[in-house]
Amino acid sequence: MSAIISPSILSADFANLERDMKSVENAGADWHHIDVMDGHFVPNITIGIPVVKSLKNFSKLPLDVHLMIENPDIYAERFIKAGADILTFHYEAMKNDAEILKLIGLIKSFGIKAGISIKPKTSPEVLLPFWDKLDLALVMTVEPGFGGQDFMPECAVKIKTIRKNAPENLIIQVDGGINAQTGKICVDAGANSLVAGSYIYKSNDIKTAINNLKS
Ligand code: DX5
Ligand code: ZN
Repeated sequence: MSAIISPSILSADFANLERDMKSVENAGADWHHIDVMDGHFVPNITIGIPVVKSLKNFSKLPLDVHLMIENPDIYAERFIKAGADILTFHYEAMKNDAEILKLIGLIKSFGIKAGISIKPKTSPEVLLPFWDKLDLALVMTVEPGFGGQDFMPECAVKIKTIRKNAPENLIIQVDGGINAQTGKICVDAGANSLVAGSYIYKSNDIKTAINNLKS
């Protein structure tokens, strides 16, 4: 089975989100990746709850919401009610394992997928206590905060560790610097969901870009 392709709207034209998101839908995307940044957890500010709600009105695909914010537990329910279908928060933004388990439980109680993301310097073993409860593990392959950065190859080994030890149905997603070459490295290591912003949205041929990631 080919990987789940989740184009990141961070590289779309924010004045034409509906037009751009429809174009990736027509080109075979599986999910829409929505990067939420608060200016605290990462040094950038993007979009919030009202925008997610508006996108939900026309999106034909699941909304894959990646929270790069402090206190994700305070905001999770509002993002879910706005229309998130997959909600991923950062391990590094949480206080302790008990709080993480509580947040996974909350997300799943709404019948949507729960994901945890780890930054490049975070070891994959931190996810161990949650593997059997999670739907998705997101391995960042750049420092979160901006699109268009270079893939960090040293992160790929973490995918292997997770794939070797985690339950078979765990979705392993990668995000940051993904293109046809780096996407293949990640899929070979065991990833089955690829986020790509600039490679898809800045391409002159979106359909080919998505197909390249799928094959
Ligand atoms: C970075 C974001 C990514 C970003 C990826 O912090 O989480 O989703 O949009 O962009 P590219 O694919 O251009 O590296
Ligand atoms: Zn992202």
